[in-house]
Amino acid sequence: MKILISFLLISSSFFLFGEEINNAELRLLATKSGLESVPKNHKELLKKLDTAENKLTNQKINLGRTLFFEPLLSRDETLTCASCHKMNEGGDDNLPTAIGYRGRTNPKHLNSPTVLNAALSKFLFWDGRAKSVEEQASGPMQAHFEMNLTPKELVKRLSKSQMYQNSFKEVFDGNITFENVKKSIGAYEKTLLTRGKFDEFLDGNNKAMSEREKIGLEIFIKNGCVKCHYGIALGGQSIEKFPKYKSSAFPFKNIGNFKGKDGKYLFRVPILRNITKTSPYYHNGEVKKLSTVIQIESEYETDKKLNKKQINSILEFFKTLDGKLVDYGIDG
Ligand code: HEC
Ligand code: HEC
Repeated sequence: MKILISFLLISSSFFLFGEEINNAELRLLATKSGLESVPKNHKELLKKLDTAENKLTNQKINLGRTLFFEPLLSRDETLTCASCHKMNEGGDDNLPTAIGYRGRTNPKHLNSPTVLNAALSKFLFWDGRAKSVEEQASGPMQAHFEMNLTPKELVKRLSKSQMYQNSFKEVFDGNITFENVKKSIGAYEKTLLTRGKFDEFLDGNNKAMSEREKIGLEIFIKNGCVKCHYGIALGGQSIEKFPKYKSSAFPFKNIGNFKGKDGKYLFRVPILRNITKTSPYYHNGEVKKLSTVIQIESEYETDKKLNKKQINSILEFFKTLDGKLVDYGIDG
């Protein structure tokens, strides 16, 4: 009897203790690997993303939102930033390559990345050539295959509008300049952050993720995906070789013949938040299925090939990266 009782005591405490440790250990492993949750309120947002060069005031963010949805930013007044970065479709356009001014396609056949959580990246664009969302914003407005407008013409157009005169007065002492347009759009993009089950788990809720999802997270970390896909957005922090572990060319047709930074097969590591919603994948949108991408990544970007079960576990984990826009209380 005595033995039985002590056995029960030991096994039950082991069970409880064991489970507690697993979650805590997994969380620690995740944070040690550079994974972090998305700021959940206004105070945390400012702590993470406010800068002296571009203060995140509510008026500026609201002006940026108006500009993001403003057709005046494109030459024939038909396109807005949201034409290719649709908020309700994962922040991208779900096309293999972007279609811009008068139906012109991206000359390198590049895929539109999501704008959601993009502000968390240190490097932007597929070759990582921009260092901030403010810097990035000047690209699409001027590109002749995107919005095709000169900064001069843009300033002229906005200056004619009473509404913009008033807003720029409030935010920038009336200076309607291209720089200030970029700053406003950048400020707005810094609020386009999403939180999902993964964030709840990292913040301490053990029940936010299922066992299968947790197993997927563990494989993602232990199999080395996290060596490149780290940071709050699980990517965007570095520029890496693709393919890394194979000398052969791309594992998909390289339509557009884009070879990354300096033509050296160096690509900005894409962010993985809302990844289930941003098909097709890779720089030219050549791969549609996420499970195929995970299999390719394990063969070409890590030295450990994953089996089907492991691929499915990572897929389960990826669903916890789907998120909803955080309400930072800025609207109005
Ligand atoms: C015609 C479609 C189109 C329009 C319009 C457009 N974009 Fe993009 N966007 C793209 C494509 C394609 C890329 C990738 C280009 C590259 O890497 O060279 C991109 C890249 C980005 C990125 C970088 C994301 C990352 O993770 O690297 C951000 C941010 C962004 N766009 C914001 C904007 C803003 C702000 C506007 C409006 C001023 C805008 N876009 C207008 C298609 C578009
Ligand atoms: C050595 C760095 C590195 C490692 C390790 C790595 N990746 Fe990637 N990953 C990249 C790069 C770079 C790209 C973009 C390549 C391109 O588009 O040409 C990419 C693309 C992706 C994409 C497609 C993103 C999109 O928006 O199109 C997914 C999903 C992905 N990786 C998941 C994984 C998984 C899962 C693992 C682990 C099995 C992994 N990666 C390991 C660097 C890495």
